[in-house]
Amino acid sequence: MQLDGRTAVITGGGRGLGRHVAEALAAAGAVVVAAGRNPGEWRTPAGVATLKADVTVPESMTELMATVQEQFGGPHIVVANAGVSRPGPVAALAAEHWGEVIDTNLNGVFHTVRAAIPYLKESPGGRVITLSSLIGRRPMPGAAAYCASKAAVEMFTQVCALELGPLGITANCLSPGFIDAGMGRQLMANEALWGRFSGALAAGRPGTGEEVGKVAVFLASQDSSYVNGHVLNVDGGVGW
Ligand SMILES: NC(=O)c1ccc[n+]([C@@H]2O[C@H](COP(=O)([O-])OP(=O)(O)OC[C@H]3O[C@@H](n4cnc5c(N)ncnc54)[C@H](OP(=O)(O)O)[C@@H]3O)[C@@H](O)[C@H]2O)c1
Repeated sequence: MQLDGRTAVITGGGRGLGRHVAEALAAAGAVVVAAGRNPGEWRTPAGVATLKADVTVPESMTELMATVQEQFGGPHIVVANAGVSRPGPVAALAAEHWGEVIDTNLNGVFHTVRAAIPYLKESPGGRVITLSSLIGRRPMPGAAAYCASKAAVEMFTQVCALELGPLGITANCLSPGFIDAGMGRQLMANEALWGRFSGALAAGRPGTGEEVGKVAVFLASQDSSYVNGHVLNVDGGVGW
């Protein structure tokens, strides 16, 4: 299989969209470790191990990568997937909520990737995959913190690609649109909001976690060996 012999760490890989990505990586042959704050509450798919870790705490990520190395080998692939959303108009957005989003979605990606680099560079074909969003490039009112964090993640990934390329590591960003899993599913439950955006989807439907998982497998595999610094939209085409 494409990912035989590879160990992948995915933050937030126990529920929502991350769970689908973890499942896809495992189905492609990787040993997968999903890390999050509350792994005891997850129902992870078969073949996916869990470890407790908090992406906002640098030491937690250092410890996570060392534990993965010790127990599973690698890691060869890191998926910085953990994310939160705290919607609200800028004028009313609590500083605490702004801080939580930036600390998780941006600082957390930095802590995750930095902690993984010493292990990724140990063998050829190391992979960094970050998660952005359709609204990292298109402004959505009420989502300033989230949009800003995802825009920054895209640029962070592109810088990583240039720095890590010479070490044999690629860094790419997977940018989902509206996906019927996790926070995407929550958004769709808001009829007024979903009504505003659903008509803009060229595919005429939201994406599935499986469709995102397949793209993650491509980016994690040797098939993407000459793809580096790319932001790959998985949104079915969006006209807004
Ligand atoms: N679903 C979509 O339609 C969609 C669209 C575009 C982009 N995305 C992106 O895809 C990623 C996954 O989203 P999702 O839909 O699966 O969201 P979700 O269902 O809310 O899951 C978020 C995950 O992040 C983890 N997490 C949050 N804070 C963390 C922290 N401090 N440390 C470690 N883990 C933490 C959570 O685990 P614990 O709470 O157990 O720690 C959970 O597993 C996010 O980056 C999101 O922005 C999703």
